[in-house]
Amino acid sequence: MNRWFETVAVAQRRARRVLPKSVYGALLAGSERGSTLADNLAAFDELGFAPRVAAGHVGRDQATTVLGRPISLPVVISPTGVQGVHPDGELAVARAAAARGTAMGLSSFASKPIEDVVAANPQTFFQVYWCGSRDDIVARIERARAAGAAGLILTLDWSFSHGRDWGSPPIPDRLDAKTMVRFAPEVLVRPRWLAGWLRRRAVPDLTVPNMAVGGEPAPGFFAAYGEWMQTPPATWDDVAWLRQQWGGPFLLKGVLRVDDARRAVDAGVDAISVSNHGGNNLDGSPAPIRVLRAIDSAVGEQIEVLLDGGVRRGSDVVKALALGARAVMIGRASLWGLAANGQAGVENVLDILRGGVDSALLGLGKSSIEELTGDDVLVPDGFTRVAGR
Ligand SMILES: Cc1cc2nc3c(=O)[nH]c(=O)nc-3n(C[C@H](O)[C@H](O)[C@H](O)COP(=O)(O)O)c2cc1C
Repeated sequence: MNRWFETVAVAQRRARRVLPKSVYGALLAGSERGSTLADNLAAFDELGFAPRVAAGHVGRDQATTVLGRPISLPVVISPTGVQGVHPDGELAVARAAAARGTAMGLSSFASKPIEDVVAANPQTFFQVYWCGSRDDIVARIERARAAGAAGLILTLDWSFSHGRDWGSPPIPDRLDAKTMVRFAPEVLVRPRWLAGWLRRRAVPDLTVPNMAVGGEPAPGFFAAYGEWMQTPPATWDDVAWLRQQWGGPFLLKGVLRVDDARRAVDAGVDAISVSNHGGNNLDGSPAPIRVLRAIDSAVGEQIEVLLDGGVRRGSDVVKALALGARAVMIGRASLWGLAANGQAGVENVLDILRGGVDSALLGLGKSSIEELTGDDVLVPDGFTRVAGR
């Protein structure tokens, strides 16, 4: 069977058919009313293009760098925990990113150890939350350093918002016999997904190996999550401290305000991602693409400005670059690809985005992503938001 798909939307429909309902629901995520989740997509639709003809360029170049690492297209895989989606999990994503010449963020809540993921893709940025004591955090980043991680991502925008108007999927703490019986009705109607695990003689691993400290066994997802909930939220001093501890390339993920972007510069970060965690957090936060321009104008000369949230097509990537992003990160797009067809599915998604970027560059009469400017997109009145000065 030919498992190739032509758009990310098609991959998402396949993922919905392939995954057990709860796993699909966990990836769809969102919070509260789902306003931010919806706005992340709607905002890209509101933007138009200003195409050119007869520009005469032959080649179109998409290569750039992020955190000093060369990438062949301006798209990086955003960190997500992918427990249960596919037996190869983040290893499949890492291999796909490496095969297509790009980097990936590995979540500290991921299902595969950092050592294995870096071996599959040396361009791996390890992502941490502000969780546990400073000693615990240092232990985790030192392990990532020893494994060869190419950079550190600190994600600070999680607000522990757990309610959804459409209902949250049940997530088990571990997969024992009782849980298997409970989930059997939704799993048995997804034979392809089940067969993938049976072939590997495996069950979804709900532990988080990168949260282990001091040689202890990997904690379960909920144990680690509980520790995180009890940790006092980070301050700007903490950010500056962690940046110093790490020493290497450092990205702060989850910035939506101009003043926070300036503070991030003061804390010494190399890059930020303008992001609302894919709409999974404080519902009512604007789509990142709406606040990007103001943030890029304020700090874009000093640090790298990335964006994530709502990117589903190459044309979305081009819109973000035209409004100031150096590159984008993708969350759900790669998860839908992984669910639909494993490593090949993630490669398929990256190919779709690369093709879409190329086509948009051609339509806009540009020979390279470097040439994109705000003049290439049509921004309707009322589109832009400016948060913080
Ligand atoms: C299922 C899921 C799990 C996620 N887990 C993490 C995580 O562990 N760490 C993190 O920094 N961001 C996490 N994110 C957020 C993504 O990195 C990214 O910001 C978001 O998915 C971008 O929006 P998009 O899905 O529309 O591309 C997660 C997102 C999803 C959908």
